[in-house]
Amino acid sequence: MNEINASIALRRALGAYATGVTIVAVPAAGGGGFGITVNSFHSVSLSPPLIGWCIGKDSLRFRTFADAPAFGISVLAGGQSDLAQRFATDSEITPGDARFEHGAEGALLVQGAVSRFACSVWARNDAGDHVALIGEVKTFDGPSEAEALTFLRGAYGTTGRLTGKA
Ligand SMILES: Cc1cc2nc3c(=O)[nH]c(=O)nc-3n(C[C@H](O)[C@H](O)[C@H](O)COP(=O)(O)O)c2cc1C
Repeated sequence: MNEINASIALRRALGAYATGVTIVAVPAAGGGGFGITVNSFHSVSLSPPLIGWCIGKDSLRFRTFADAPAFGISVLAGGQSDLAQRFATDSEITPGDARFEHGAEGALLVQGAVSRFACSVWARNDAGDHVALIGEVKTFDGPSEAEALTFLRGAYGTTGRLTGKA
């Protein structure tokens, strides 16, 4: 298998791990901000409260997110796949965009998201073709009762048919 095919195969295998979907957002100087759809979001530590996500170095938005001192991260609800699609292709959040609100410390958070976290950057670790960002949770809200959006094998779904309690 050549390197490109191996990378496609690895991506497919990793895509069998079901995740939620989040929007990471950072404010812009003149109002509004920038967002990106992210499913590498993961919990890291409860004390101190840390979460993580990874930004691809190939992304046109790499510098915007890799250099930001703080970010908001919103776990999308089942009905918010349109937002996931939008921020996979376009990053701009216009000033006054009603789908976002400002949380603590100016964090841009998605209205109606299941859980939301306002974070300051705690560590940046170089990791191959990504940078792994660790954020310290300053404030959070949720979870709401809403179903969460899921991503599996390249397709969106929802948590509507979950069975069994862990
Ligand atoms: C469901 C989903 C999850 C994604 N997760 C990540 C992620 O964790 N990290 C990342 O850098 N890009 C992720 N992306 C890709 C970005 O949203 C975006 O498409 C990519 O950075 C290319 O954008 P560009 O136009 O800035 O180059 C994800 C896309 C989708 C649809």
